[in-house]
Amino acid sequence: MIKPVRPTLFVGLMSGTSQDAVDAVLAEFPISGEGPPRLIASDSTPLPPQLRARLDALQEPGGGDLDNALQLHHELGLRFADSALSLLASAHAEPRSVRAIGSHGQTVRHRPAGPGPHSLQLGDAALIAARTGIATVADFRSGDIAAGGQGAPLAPLFHQAAFGNSGCQRAILNLGGMANVTFLGAGNAGPSGWDTGPGNVLLDAWAARHLGQPYDADGAFAASGRVHNSLLAALLDHPFVSRQPPKSTGREDFNAQWLERFLDRFGAIEPADVQATLAEFTAACIATAFVNRTNTEELLICGGGTRNRDLLKRIDRHLPGLAVDTTAKAGVDPQWVEALAFAWLARQRIAERALDTQRVTGARQPVILGCVYLP
Ligand SMILES: Nc1ncnc2c1ncn2[C@@H]1O[C@H](COP(=O)(O)OP(=O)(O)OP(=O)(O)O)[C@@H](O)[C@H]1O
Ligand SMILES: [Mg+2]
Repeated sequence: MIKPVRPTLFVGLMSGTSQDAVDAVLAEFPISGEGPPRLIASDSTPLPPQLRARLDALQEPGGGDLDNALQLHHELGLRFADSALSLLASAHAEPRSVRAIGSHGQTVRHRPAGPGPHSLQLGDAALIAARTGIATVADFRSGDIAAGGQGAPLAPLFHQAAFGNSGCQRAILNLGGMANVTFLGAGNAGPSGWDTGPGNVLLDAWAARHLGQPYDADGAFAASGRVHNSLLAALLDHPFVSRQPPKSTGREDFNAQWLERFLDRFGAIEPADVQATLAEFTAACIATAFVNRTNTEELLICGGGTRNRDLLKRIDRHLPGLAVDTTAKAGVDPQWVEALAFAWLARQRIAERALDTQRVTGARQPVILGCVYLP
């Protein structure tokens, strides 16, 4: 018996692997059935550079200091709570009108394979619940890992609910720090999906180093360079690229230190050419997902990478014959899709609905995802 969930307002909080900002949405879901939620309000609060630097340090190999991690867990919890409260204030919505908050948390480790599989997100949800007075769902990934899954990506389940009834063979691509693809199932078939590799993460790292900017605005830096074919071939040798799904990735696999090792090997390459090569590598990793999916008709893209025109052009070039657009075409602003996914996941948790992630993360059986912290 599934518990009815009313009222139907949920907050989604997303702070992804780009570590750029806390994205917050207030979403109203239909009382029954699926379909896209109504986006009532949205807000994005940038993470200050100093906090981003501390998160980077925590993720360097051997950079794990438990005291630092716990301090960040507390500080991020406060920030997430403040994001939710200012979102509600801007929407003139009372906290008591919101059924629950879904908080993704800030991933600082994602190692779903190996002897001690885990995925760790910081941002104290007990603190979010206490400060907002709203039940808060967090820790969405560990239940899936405990059931033998990758714990990621989880957004494909929401992509199916929001974009699944188009009548054509549709795929969704999220260009966040990492990139993940969803192939929507027709009829009652669930979605399949996986991480394809880097999204913006390598482009951001190289832009920070050579432009002193947090990202390559519009992809102009990459567009000004030329692809270095030997470097591209070496990058494509990464075992993640050819690994069969289910698969998921994070900053553990693709980061600035990993890139440095190749650059040492190839000697001096023009910085703009490196950026062009990284953009081409990102697009090529995405294209490999479509090799056995020749019946796909339409690709809708979401995430911050939709603002990188150069990257979108490269993806389009790799996928001839596919109609490529953003999720705006299906009525959902690409910037808010992932935050909406965590509002939707919170709703599933409150309804105690087990989610079938077998064709996405590879979990052995359907699992109720997330832990609920009551105020
Ligand atoms: N004007 C722009 N030009 C180019 N890239 C941009 C622009 N604006 C944002 N971006 C890119 O979008 C990124 C943020 O995207 P997003 O918030 O979707 O990623 P995320 O926080 O990592 O989420 P996810 O959980 O999906 O990984 C930035 O780090 C940057 O690379
Ligand atoms: Mg973000």
